[in-house]
Amino acid sequence: MNKSLRPAVIAGNWKMNKTPAQTTELINEMKPLVADAACDVVLCVPFVDLQAALAAAEGSNIKIGAQNCHFEKSGAFTGEISADMLKELGVTYVIIGHSERRTYFGETDVTVNKRTLAALNAGLTAIVCVGEYLEQREQGVTNELVALQTKIALQNVTEGDLSKIIIAYEPVWAIGTGRTATADQANEVCAVIRETIAGLYGKAAADSVTIQYGGSMNAANADELVGKPDVDGGLIGGASLVAKDFAVIVAAASK
Ligand code: PGA
Repeated sequence: MNKSLRPAVIAGNWKMNKTPAQTTELINEMKPLVADAACDVVLCVPFVDLQAALAAAEGSNIKIGAQNCHFEKSGAFTGEISADMLKELGVTYVIIGHSERRTYFGETDVTVNKRTLAALNAGLTAIVCVGEYLEQREQGVTNELVALQTKIALQNVTEGDLSKIIIAYEPVWAIGTGRTATADQANEVCAVIRETIAGLYGKAAADSVTIQYGGSMNAANADELVGKPDVDGGLIGGASLVAKDFAVIVAAASK
């Protein structure tokens, strides 16, 4: 398995944190710390922070993403944001199907697929999240479940569009809990996702897809996690709100 076939991507997921003014401040603090990154660096911020983030990141190597988008282009969907709206702002990435959206906001594998297709249609790169609950891990169904989530998320995604897909493997029990998957657990499931993609599109295509790990990745454990052959970076929650910690993770993925 050759990691050089695909970029490592470290993406921060700020969740519902930071105001626009705080966004400017934090990105200004991060910029010099990640300027030498040899991996892609993305910050996915709340919708209302996007313009401040884009302005602060301009001219730097930090790319800006949103945390969700709707699957329709426009219409009577109060409170929703379309992929075209994000695109016009200058946003280039969007997280789709984060477990918090699946758990609290009724996101299903089918809506994850619809949102993924909408993101691709608008020319955005979709960071598609998959992952099991603790109970499912204990039942021994993690690999089948994650393979199924991946397959459904990728329905009608063409091979040509795979370059705009990142899969984030995020075991739900590891998110925001401080309980990280071991590097071997993370690598095993990332490899299952790659095999699943290989089954759909062929091995060469699968080798070119970035597959991240997410779930309590931090400055202390990033090195080991991103050092694994099938782990191509990370989706970082809590540690992406602390500039120096985020920079350590970016440095780990730059090796
Ligand atoms: P965490 O969040 O790093 O705070 O566990 C990861 C995520 O939810 O993407």
